[in-house]
Amino acid sequence: MASTSKSTEDLSRSLLILYATETGTAQDAADQIARQCRRILYGCRVMSMDTYALEELTNEELVIFVVSTTGSGTEPRSMTPLWNMLLNSSLPSDLFSEDPLLEFAVFALGDSSYEKFCWPGKLLSRRMEDLGARQICERGEGDEQHQLGIDGALQSWMEKLIATLLQLNPLPAGTSIIPNEKIPPPRISLQKTTPGEATTSDTRVDPLSQDDSYFLATLTKNERITAADWYQHVRHLEFDFDEDISYRPGDIAVIHPEASPADVETFLTRMGWGNFADDTFVIQHTLTDQSLPDHLPTISTLRTLFTRYLDLNAVPRRNFFQYLRYFNDDELEREKLDDFISLEGADELYEYCYRVRRTVLEVLEEFRNVHIPKEYVFDVFPFLRPRQFSISSSVQRHERQIHLCVAIVKYRTKLKIPRRGTCTSYLAVLQPGVQLRVGIRQGLLRLPEGQDRPLICVGPGTGIAPMRSLIEERISNKSSENTLYFGCRSSSKDQHYSTEWAQFVERDKLTYRTAFSRDGPEGTPRIYVQDLIREDSERIWDLLDSRDAWVYISGSSNKMPTAVKEALAYAVETNGNRSHAEAKEYVEEMIRSNRLFEECWS
Ligand code: 2AM
Repeated sequence: MASTSKSTEDLSRSLLILYATETGTAQDAADQIARQCRRILYGCRVMSMDTYALEELTNEELVIFVVSTTGSGTEPRSMTPLWNMLLNSSLPSDLFSEDPLLEFAVFALGDSSYEKFCWPGKLLSRRMEDLGARQICERGEGDEQHQLGIDGALQSWMEKLIATLLQLNPLPAGTSIIPNEKIPPPRISLQKTTPGEATTSDTRVDPLSQDDSYFLATLTKNERITAADWYQHVRHLEFDFDEDISYRPGDIAVIHPEASPADVETFLTRMGWGNFADDTFVIQHTLTDQSLPDHLPTISTLRTLFTRYLDLNAVPRRNFFQYLRYFNDDELEREKLDDFISLEGADELYEYCYRVRRTVLEVLEEFRNVHIPKEYVFDVFPFLRPRQFSISSSVQRHERQIHLCVAIVKYRTKLKIPRRGTCTSYLAVLQPGVQLRVGIRQGLLRLPEGQDRPLICVGPGTGIAPMRSLIEERISNKSSENTLYFGCRSSSKDQHYSTEWAQFVERDKLTYRTAFSRDGPEGTPRIYVQDLIREDSERIWDLLDSRDAWVYISGSSNKMPTAVKEALAYAVETNGNRSHAEAKEYVEEMIRSNRLFEECWS
């Protein structure tokens, strides 16, 4: 959505912000950085890395990279093309020092409970320097585990960045920093259209219909696959497509969720927008250094925007409170909001909002004197993100179909308020027959070329989804060298697809090993997939060493992949006559050489 050319008049005061995001946090950080840079009169272009013409990078003079981390230390998918380009070993070490010198800064985002915290950001800083670029300020590292989330680190890093930029390039005489309290202009304008001008089949209304990575699907099956009395609700969904679709095992389906009509109605009424909620507006992107959600229509209504593009159930960021402060006419509420957005009030905001995971809707129930001009909707409210799910079927076995295996997210906050995941609760109640557009993206898992190489698949819980896709494809290709390690709590309550696996065991020589963590008598140690791998260590070593087996790990626990890799190393150490360190290195080398794949989520 942002402009791609350097359109700012004063080129010495312009910069490019390239972000790579998976859940939108890095995009939000990029917008905040742009906003701060604009206060010192920098013109900013904010772009997702995958929409930027990479060959232009050597012509840039100042780039700020905002990079999040996915899985256990990999870059977001949108960064992969840039990263592959930078890793090319034939690039000269003066690539970015040749005129013009490229100066850069990096703000990395990650979660310090993972071993490879902020890994893509760290590697990027180093590689840019190796190629001759000059890092102008110390890399910022935002930590999801921090009390204030990413925001805590971002605020102090932006202060350093702004100080550095001012030092390198002082403000022109006669100008001054734009004060923070001034309300920034909105990023869009909204112009009312005449009724009936747009129809729902209009591509200006549904841009997904123009994106050739999305396909129109009909939901044909949506059933609960955990026992009705079980604590966890997991569903199996099947989508049919009218046209041939192609995807590979391990690929990802993208679903655009919708907020519930009741939540949207409550919100619109609360904001006093009920009377014009269904008026159609032309949306124009006026402030292009602030981004907009992808696939945003050019004609829409407020009801549609808050159903499909803006997230009422998200936990808002600090910036949201800043806007509530701008547009509030009640003295008491303003005082409270002033506290929240001040540096000293950080703990208070944490207690009020983040610790208890209070949502936008809930905050607005308490701050009742906000009057937000409708042009500001994209500045104030968090974007509603599409969600990605591992496809759980093989298209070879299920022509023109995609299957998903989805855990319906439901939990209680620290205030004991029940919460539901936006996308999974949307999917949970979708009725067969409904049509929606489903995107297909390349995943991280790949099958080996031939059929002879054995596969070791480890997929506890809903980690089974991509494993079902890999194994179905292999069996369609008459390959019988497949081992599946599955873990769940109970053999009778949450053993997903057990009858299918039983058939594959019988007919197609699948080796199926199960760890039921809670089936043992009370007080006995829990059995996990990694325990089975240790038990089978002799066979595992044989498959790895003499058969060159490939290994796949998928699941939702962040400790499970590490434990599984340790169990693999144990098999190497005990049977392969290697030291502990050599066995660990063996497993690391499997990752580097693409023989061990991970697709994990938290
Ligand atoms: P638990 O919930 O009984 O602890 C699917 O969620 C299965 O993965 C469950 O049996 C769950 O066990 C198990 N699991 C939880 N933590 C794990 C870990 N660190 N490693 C492997 N499996 C784990």
